[in-house]
Amino acid sequence: MKIRMENVSMKFGDFYAAKDINISISKGEYLTILGPSGCGKTTLIKMISGILRPTEGCIFVDGEDVTDTHLEDRDTGYVFQNIALFPNMTVSDNVGYSPRVRDMTKDETASVSEEYLKLVKMLDRAGAIPKELSGGEQQKVAIARALASGSKLLMLDEPLSALDARVRVELRYDMRRLVKKLGITVLHVTHDQEEAMSVSDRIILMRAGRIVEIGTPLDMYRNPGSIFAAYFIGETNLLECTVSGKTKTGKTVVRLRGGQMVRAAKSVLTEGDAAVISVRPENVYAAKEGLKAEVTEVVFMGTYRRVRTVAETNDYLEYNISSDDEIPKIGDKVHLVFNKKATMVFPRPEKGLKEAIELE
Ligand SMILES: Nc1ncnc2c1ncn2[C@@H]1O[C@H](COP(=O)(O)OP(=O)(O)O)[C@@H](O)[C@H]1O
Ligand SMILES: [Mg+2]
Repeated sequence: MKIRMENVSMKFGDFYAAKDINISISKGEYLTILGPSGCGKTTLIKMISGILRPTEGCIFVDGEDVTDTHLEDRDTGYVFQNIALFPNMTVSDNVGYSPRVRDMTKDETASVSEEYLKLVKMLDRAGAIPKELSGGEQQKVAIARALASGSKLLMLDEPLSALDARVRVELRYDMRRLVKKLGITVLHVTHDQEEAMSVSDRIILMRAGRIVEIGTPLDMYRNPGSIFAAYFIGETNLLECTVSGKTKTGKTVVRLRGGQMVRAAKSVLTEGDAAVISVRPENVYAAKEGLKAEVTEVVFMGTYRRVRTVAETNDYLEYNISSDDEIPKIGDKVHLVFNKKATMVFPRPEKGLKEAIELE
């Protein structure tokens, strides 16, 4: 199922929950809609499913304008953020309940149910009723039911957020594998950037009702188009600076607040421009020379340690060391250098850096 949204907005009173949305989704694509709470993710998929009619713009499915098509005629599977199973039906009957199976025999329905319950590892609870299940188990049944409906477009609103960390990670891969096998198009809402990065073909990043950026996880991580994207997808250090010039190869040279010079990636900015550089912790290293910083905290993260520092420029700077590396002590002075290819340069936002990364 191919979807296109053209200049779509959703206004509640004077407030735009979604504004000027333009997206094209290919058949079979796995898309996540990522963004902080309240940014309009649920509103967006409710408009596509037909639960909400946009106040402006048009929605097309396979080229046909469905803006005014009733939700029951849209053939989309939808898993709500708050689980909505039939309370008096067994797990198996819940999963088997869909228009697709209306014409099937009882045995056929049961086998469809079984297939999808197996997938979400809930087959052993097929005879239970929803209230006998934990929240996470109910959510798995809801996912199985949506998949079993046979619809070509599946919309999942934070489908994994109620699950244990372990189950959540496993189910991510199961879900992606399955929908790819079935060839269905998925719109998966999440506020978890790691989840978005690990399952998506593309991510739609939203903020305050608008789409900030659309791209593949790798592109968005390596080449974010904005400070907000750099900050929201992955972790990053942000330092205010001024462009002082370019190297022969076109790299940007910036002056930090304390006057220190740092080389960063190419950019369109020119000498004198107010800028911000963004460098991820994995691209900062302790060396013999470099920006002076004082260690304030060392956090064990399992496969690595995160060292938190305050630099001589007064910026906070974090970097990673391997778990085998010597552990710096609090108060130690270190010298930090940046991988210049991975140090991105952005124009300094007019309203300030804080506003640029605020989540609400
Ligand atoms: N029916 C409604 N009436 C008024 N405001 C709403 C309605 N639905 C959502 N909103 C507002 O629109 C914004 C986006 O909501 P929502 O799409 O649920 O965000 P998200 O799913 O990203 O957390 C929020 O500020 C929310 O309060
Ligand atoms: Mg929501």
